[in-house]
Amino acid sequence: MQELVKKIKELKEKKNAVILAHNYQVEEVQQLADYLGDSLELSKLAAGVKHDIIVFAGVKFMAETAKILSPQKKVLLPRLDAGCPMADMITVEELRELKQEHPRAKVVTYVNSTVEIKAESDACCTSANAVKVVGSIDAREIIFIPDRNLGSYVQKILGDKKTLILYEGYCYVHDRIKKEEIEAMKKLYPGAKVVVHPEARMDVIDLADEVLSTSGMLRFTADSPDKQFVIGTEQGLIERMKRENPGKEFYPPLKPKICSNMKKTGLQDIANALEYDQYEIVIEESISRKAVKALDEMLKYI
Ligand code: 13P
Ligand code: SF4
Repeated sequence: MQELVKKIKELKEKKNAVILAHNYQVEEVQQLADYLGDSLELSKLAAGVKHDIIVFAGVKFMAETAKILSPQKKVLLPRLDAGCPMADMITVEELRELKQEHPRAKVVTYVNSTVEIKAESDACCTSANAVKVVGSIDAREIIFIPDRNLGSYVQKILGDKKTLILYEGYCYVHDRIKKEEIEAMKKLYPGAKVVVHPEARMDVIDLADEVLSTSGMLRFTADSPDKQFVIGTEQGLIERMKRENPGKEFYPPLKPKICSNMKKTGLQDIANALEYDQYEIVIEESISRKAVKALDEMLKYI
């Protein structure tokens, strides 16, 4: 492993590359990355870094977002099969039908989506700024795709200020967290703060003390005077919390929740990506030109 890390560092230097990694990546990738963050932080970084190559340790929609925001850079996704099932749940045809049914509505798309869907949207958002993006858009009716759980949460916060038209997409990792698990954890650790991701179901969100993006959860638990936390999200983030807060205790909801796609990228994949320039993200110019407008809207609400 030491040899591989050394090789990656040398290749990175030689090729003027930077490694961006999502909070759900495996521990050795988290440790190796130049930057580790949530979707919004990584998008902002991708738009601003000065390197020639971005190696994106995450899933495909994240690398595509980086490419759209930084078209002059080479963006590499070390594992082509690291996708996000939620991003593929809605088709362009389905979105067009929704637009026809609701001609006055604007479209806000969760960044966990394909480039074609982004190109047909008025704005994108992440879990960190969904409430702000939807709240600021100049329409009362909003088609919010593809995550029904995040959409329901945004609707709950905004109340009658906005009417959200939802789609039946979901993240299989967060949707799997059951309210009974949270109730059981509350019994086991009555003093613990419950912090969940807004991709979780509404009945789980209703039991939480805080509802935050992955990096929002990190900041909250680091700053909180509390010592015990039940964390309703993917296990990779819990590992990072434990590493960075040795005096505190972090528990998953009964059984750990794993995103298999986020776990596909290993050190060897990153070394191969740097050595052979694989797998380069290429996006059709006409799609990219439209999608960047929706992503620029998202970056207004950092
Ligand atoms: P954030 O890190 O932006 O909260 O996103 C979570 C997620 O599920 C990414 O796929
Ligand atoms: Fe997609 Fe869920 Fe995995 Fe995030 S955790 S990449 S939303 S499947």
